[in-house]
Amino acid sequence: MTDPAAPDALPDTLTGLAVAVLTTADGRAKTALSHRAAAKWRASRAAGTPLPLGQEAPPLRPARPEKPDLLAPRDVPRRRPGSEAGRIALLHAVAHIELNAVDLHWDILARFPDVPMPLGFYDDWVKAADEESKHFNLVCDCLEALGSHYGALPTHAGMWRAAEDTVDDLPARLAVVPMVLEARGLDVTPGMIATFRKAGVTQAVDALETIYAEEVGHVAYGSKWFNFLCGRHDTDPKDAFHALIRKHFHGALKPPFNEEKRADAGLPPDFYWPLADGTGTREESPTGKPVSVENS
Ligand SMILES: [Fe+2]
Ligand SMILES: [Fe+2]
Repeated sequence: MTDPAAPDALPDTLTGLAVAVLTTADGRAKTALSHRAAAKWRASRAAGTPLPLGQEAPPLRPARPEKPDLLAPRDVPRRRPGSEAGRIALLHAVAHIELNAVDLHWDILARFPDVPMPLGFYDDWVKAADEESKHFNLVCDCLEALGSHYGALPTHAGMWRAAEDTVDDLPARLAVVPMVLEARGLDVTPGMIATFRKAGVTQAVDALETIYAEEVGHVAYGSKWFNFLCGRHDTDPKDAFHALIRKHFHGALKPPFNEEKRADAGLPPDFYWPLADGTGTREESPTGKPVSVENS
């Protein structure tokens, strides 16, 4: 494991940096290392000498701290955001999602070295991983201000399944992770912001506003590189997306969708509506209504 406190200890390849982050267990240490790794990549690009990809293989599962306990989704207590305990539980769930996202983005950088991609692909996912690291820390700061911390509550065990299910297919990874899971974040975050605003928790409102703004970019990176790969193989992107989601994603997509932010991210309605669970219609309000995060 790389010591994040040692300034010259970072690996000299992009896959090496990714593996160093993935094999660091503690959340604050993982995100500190992630920020330093992203800075090293950016510096190499600015100098005109991009780090080589290298050949470090990522672990099948990233290292994670001893706490929180991971439970089957049905065993995670329901979150009721009307109370302070409920709001802490909600932030704890978001922190877990953000930590998982740090690993998901470093994993995509190291998992598919056999697919030649333009340097911009790596720039985008390094930036996304760097932002996820900030998101984790912002949400942890909110938890600590409320007298809790990441690891204090049990959480969802299934978060890495999307990565395992798409471990050998880059288009499938892009379809499932940014274009379905992170797009779902765009749907549910306005409702969370409203919850914390109503409770007067401005630190959480500010953190979630930052997350909301930056997640549009992550969905856009997914859509951009998915379309790029489809174009490389002369495949229809919409048909390919539907086939990959039906094969690799378990369950239907849940309206209401945040159609405005999805459009900002390059995700048109004919990509996601045909995969919806039948509880909404395409004609509903484009901004959607605030939705609960119970099923996110
Ligand atoms: Fe995030
Ligand atoms: Fe993200």
